[in-house]
Parts: sequence; C-alpha cells; structure tokens
Amino acid sequence: MRNLMGQVDGTANLHDEAAFDRNVWDDGAQQKWFAGGTVLVLRRIRAEMDTWDELDRTSKELTMGRRLDTGAPLTGERENDVPDLTASRNGIPVIPPNAHIALARHRNDEEQFLRRPYNYDDPPSDDETSDSGLIFASYQRDPRRQFIPVQQRLADADALNRWVTTIGSATFAILPGVAEGEHLGQRLLAT
Ligand code: HEM
Repeated sequence: MRNLMGQVDGTANLHDEAAFDRNVWDDGAQQKWFAGGTVLVLRRIRAEMDTWDELDRTSKELTMGRRLDTGAPLTGERENDVPDLTASRNGIPVIPPNAHIALARHRNDEEQFLRRPYNYDDPPSDDETSDSGLIFASYQRDPRRQFIPVQQRLADADALNRWVTTIGSATFAILPGVAEGEHLGQRLLAT
C-alpha cells in the first residue's frame, strides 16, 4: 500500500511459512496454551503532513532510503531489490546511515517481524492543521528480541523522526486460532 506520506509501505516483510513459524507464531515453550498465538504491537504514529509536504522529493527519498515512485531502494531499481547499505558514491553513502530503512532493517534473522501498516486520517481539532498518519501494527513472537531493538534504533537516530510522533502504543496477546468445534481461548481456560 501507499501511506499518507506518499511512500510505498510494507515491502520488506516476512513471507514464507518457515519464517512465520520461527518469528511470528509462539511455540508454547513458556505457556502451552499460547502455542500458535502471537504478540501484536500497535502504535498510532502521527505524521506532520504540513511540514513533510514542504520537503523536496530528493530529501524525502533520502529520509526513507527508497524512491517515492516505485518504492525501490536508492541502490536498486525495483521495489523488491535488496537495499545495499554499504554502497557509496564519491565517498558518500547512497542510503544515509540514518535513513529509516537503514536503521529499521533487521540486524539478524531473529529480529524480523510481520508489519501491516494502515493509514488513519482524523478530522483536525481547532488548534491543529491535520491529524493523520500511520497505524503501525507488527506481529512477533517476542517483542523484546524483535520490535524493541528496532524501535530503539529508530528512536535514537531515524531521520523520519522529525516528521512523526508516536501518540499511542499498546501490546496485545493474540490468542491462537481454533480448530472446528473449539472456541477462542479454550486452551487457556483448560489450564
Ligand atoms: C509513521 C511511521 C512510519 C512510517 C511512515 C514508515 C514507513 C516505512 C516505509 C515507507 C518503509 C519502506 C518500505 C517497506 O519495506 O515497507 C518502511 C520500512 C520499515 N519500517 Fe517503517 N515506518 C514507520 C514506522 C516504523 C516503526 C515504528 C517501525 C518499528 C519499530 C518500523 C519498522 C520498519 C521496518 C522493519 C522496515 C523494513 C526495513 C527493511 O528491511 O528494508 N517502521 N517503513
């Protein structure tokens, strides 16, 4: 999808079933009833659309590390090309080290999670010019080894921080699905 900041969003994500089993679905090691469940981190992130829209295209692309039109990384041509975070031109990194994708990109396979971003666009209150942005949703087995390290790197240095503010955050345990004849939470109530 394309978010309200005009960027193609949701490109680098988990796809294959084995990765879901490792990084999204809980294995029940700590609590048997939670096997097959997952943890959702949900954040409402306001985007400063008025000042973002004052930026020129090149600055917007350097902030993200991807092109606005195709969503391709600045080191590639197609949306799904893998970004080369080491590439430089005349000694200057093509994707700046503080670009959103440079900091958000997983440092190891264990850190990867599933992202499902949604846009929100609420009517402005009297003293505001806009209230819109992203409902960020990530699904993972363990936020301590997945969401939190990524969020920490972004909080420390993400170039996008100038235009985004997290105004709501919550973590939910999502119960495992049910087989025919079962009901949601049945295994929890049985323990
Ligand atoms: C309003 C806030 C945000 C915006 C507008 C935004 C936008 C984007 C965009 C456009 C991409 C590149 C396309 C893609 O791969 O999906 C991206 C990548 C990514 N974002 Fe965000 N994002 C936001 C917040 C966050 C937060 C809070 C996190 C996690 C803490 C996060 C984690 C990631 C990750 C892991 C990637 C993939 C990096 C890669 O492997 O290339 N983002 N984001």
